[in-house]
Amino acid sequence: MSRSVRIRAFAKINLNLKVLGPRPDGYHELRTVYQTITLADRLEVRLAPGSTAVQVECDNPQIPSGPDNLVYRAAIAWRRARRDRSAIQIRLAKRIPAGAGLGGGSSDAAVTLLALERLTGDRLDLKARLEIAAGLGSDVPLFLLGGRVLGCGRGEEVYPLLDLPSRFCLVAFPGFSVNTREAFRQFSSGLTPLKSGSRIGKFGARPLFPMMEWEPAENDFEPIVFAKWPELASLKRRFIQAGAETALLTGSGSALYAVFDSAEQLLRARQHIPPGWKVFRARTLSRAGYWRQLFES
Ligand code: C5P
Repeated sequence: MSRSVRIRAFAKINLNLKVLGPRPDGYHELRTVYQTITLADRLEVRLAPGSTAVQVECDNPQIPSGPDNLVYRAAIAWRRARRDRSAIQIRLAKRIPAGAGLGGGSSDAAVTLLALERLTGDRLDLKARLEIAAGLGSDVPLFLLGGRVLGCGRGEEVYPLLDLPSRFCLVAFPGFSVNTREAFRQFSSGLTPLKSGSRIGKFGARPLFPMMEWEPAENDFEPIVFAKWPELASLKRRFIQAGAETALLTGSGSALYAVFDSAEQLLRARQHIPPGWKVFRARTLSRAGYWRQLFES
């Protein structure tokens, strides 16, 4: 008899993103506010006793199913941490575009850990869970909190923030991906490296961006990405003209999102998205909503 659970992997947007400088470890020190949204992938995770394999099956043939898939790596990392050799089968239904800055692969990996805990009853404490997540990628830990989250360090050091009232969220994906590593590299060519061991004041005393309400936000990647793809810059302008409270590139792109007060405004703004782009309608998702909707019954 094999047991399985079904779980949603929600996407994130970045409400603000500041890159402070390159670090001695090759990463970049950043400050960001993440926000989870209702756009989601779906996973079915199954424990199949009797064999020792990890298998990932995805409905999108362009997504790798072996060690290049973060879901696969999450399952292996979990088995290693728990000294468990159960066979794990994961079916992944992708809806969040890859290479878009929406954290799809990272979210898939984070919820794989949660699903394995649920299946085995072997619950990790939050610290251990966050450590495994951070080892998988900078954007994975935020999905162990959900809602509005402050990201420090390379983005993996996460702090829950108070949720803001829910908003309508429009996401436009132009169909091409941005390589995050390359975007950071380009960005940092104009920055002074941070000295080894230097500690930047965390947050609170001198906030780097507004954190208390929906406000126009900034993303340091916009100038680089917009210079290469001006169609993203012009869509941002149109979203703002259509009444968006905030319109911004998410992560290092390539998706652009806009946040609206009303569904009517969202529908009007949607008409400005060029033909051929993928469009997603979503809501921002509070921490309570995130946990309520995570597991499918
Ligand atoms: O952590 P993750 O594997 O998702 O990062 C992908 C790449 O993005 C890293 O290899 C690094 O080149 C770059 N990166 C960075 N600084 C960060 C996060 C990511 O330079 N804070």
